[in-house]
Amino acid sequence: MSTRPGSRIVGIGSALPEHVVTNADFEKRLETSDKWITERTGIRERRMGGSTSELAIEAGMGAIKSAGLSPSDIDFMILSTTTPDQTVPATSAVVSDRIGIAGGAMDINAACAGYVYALVVANSLIVMGQRRILVIGSDTLSKITDQNDRSTAVLFADGAGAAVLEATDNSSLLGWDLGIDGSAQPILYCDHGGYMQMEGREVFKRAVRAMVDSAKRALEMANVGPSDISLVVPHQANIRIIEAANERLGIDMSKTAIVLDTTGNTSSGSVPLALHDAVKKGMVDRGQLVLFSGFGAGMTWASAVMRWDADAIG
Ligand code: ACO
Repeated sequence: MSTRPGSRIVGIGSALPEHVVTNADFEKRLETSDKWITERTGIRERRMGGSTSELAIEAGMGAIKSAGLSPSDIDFMILSTTTPDQTVPATSAVVSDRIGIAGGAMDINAACAGYVYALVVANSLIVMGQRRILVIGSDTLSKITDQNDRSTAVLFADGAGAAVLEATDNSSLLGWDLGIDGSAQPILYCDHGGYMQMEGREVFKRAVRAMVDSAKRALEMANVGPSDISLVVPHQANIRIIEAANERLGIDMSKTAIVLDTTGNTSSGSVPLALHDAVKKGMVDRGQLVLFSGFGAGMTWASAVMRWDADAIG
C-alpha cells in the first residue's frame, strides 16, 4: 500500500458528568418504562451535568496526557459541538485558553456527525503543516432537551471525548466521506432558546441509509471492503440504528464499539467516547482498520477509514 503524509491518533481522553440518570428515574416522572427505552434504543442510563467547556477541558487534558505530551506540544485545537456555552465567542476560545494551547482554535458544528468532520479537517490541517492537533467532541444535549418530553428526554445526554492527532509520513486516514442534506432540517432541529424537536421515525430511516451509503464511499476511497474492518466506531444514538447499518454493511456487532447503553446520545462526544472505551478494552491492534461513522441533524453524515497506528493508549 502506498504511503502519503497525514495524521495518526496518539492519545485519547474522555469525560462524563457524575450525575447518572437511569431509565427507572424517567419511569418515576414520565409515561415511559425501562422496557420501552431499552428495547427501542438500547439505552439503560445516561449522564447529565457540567458545561460543554468543562467536559471538553477534562477530555482534552486526558488525551494530551495519554499521548505523553503537554499542552505546549499542541499547535491547533478543534472543538466539535452543537451546544456551545455561549453564542459568542466560540467555546474553543475558552477551552484552548484553559488547557493552555498557544495555537489556533475553532468550533465545528455538524451536529452528531461533527466529530468525524473534525477528524478529517484536522488531518487536512496537518497535511498543510501543523504538527499536532487536539480534536475534542463535547456536547451537553440535556440543556436543549425538554426533560418532560418522553420522546427526546430519554435519548439525549452529556459527555465529551478527545484525541491528539500527530503528523506522520504514513497517514492513518485512508478514506473519508462528509455530507449534508439541508432539506432534512425540519426533521431534527432546535431553535435558539428552544428544545430539540424530532421526527424520530424519519430520522431513524434516513440515519441508517446515510450511515451505510457514507461508509461505502469511505471504504471505496480507502480501497478496502467491510470484511477488512476490525473495529466500527459509530455515532451512539440508538442500538437498532447501529444494528441495521451493520447488517447492511455485513459487519458483525462484535466488532462494534458501543457505549450508548450507559451514555445515551452525547452528539459530538459519542464517537470519541466509544473509541476510547474500545481502545481500553483492547478491541483494536496496531495495523488494523477502524471505520468511523456518524450522522446527525442537518442531516449530516460523515465516515472515515483509519489504519490504527498507536501502541496501547488509553
Ligand atoms: N416511552 C414510551 N413510549 C414512547 C416514548 C417513551 N420514551 N417515546 C415515544 N413513545 C411512543 C410514541 O409516542 C409512539 O406512540 P403512538 O404509537 O401512540 O404514537 C410509540 O412510542 C412509538 O413511537 P415511534 O416513534 O414509532 O417509536 P420508534 O420505534 O421509532 O422509536 C425512537 C422511537 C427511539 C425515537 C426512534 O425512532 C429513534 O431512535 N429515532 C432516531 C433518533 C435519533 O437518532 N436522533 C438523534 C440524531 S443525532 C443528532 O443530531 C442529535
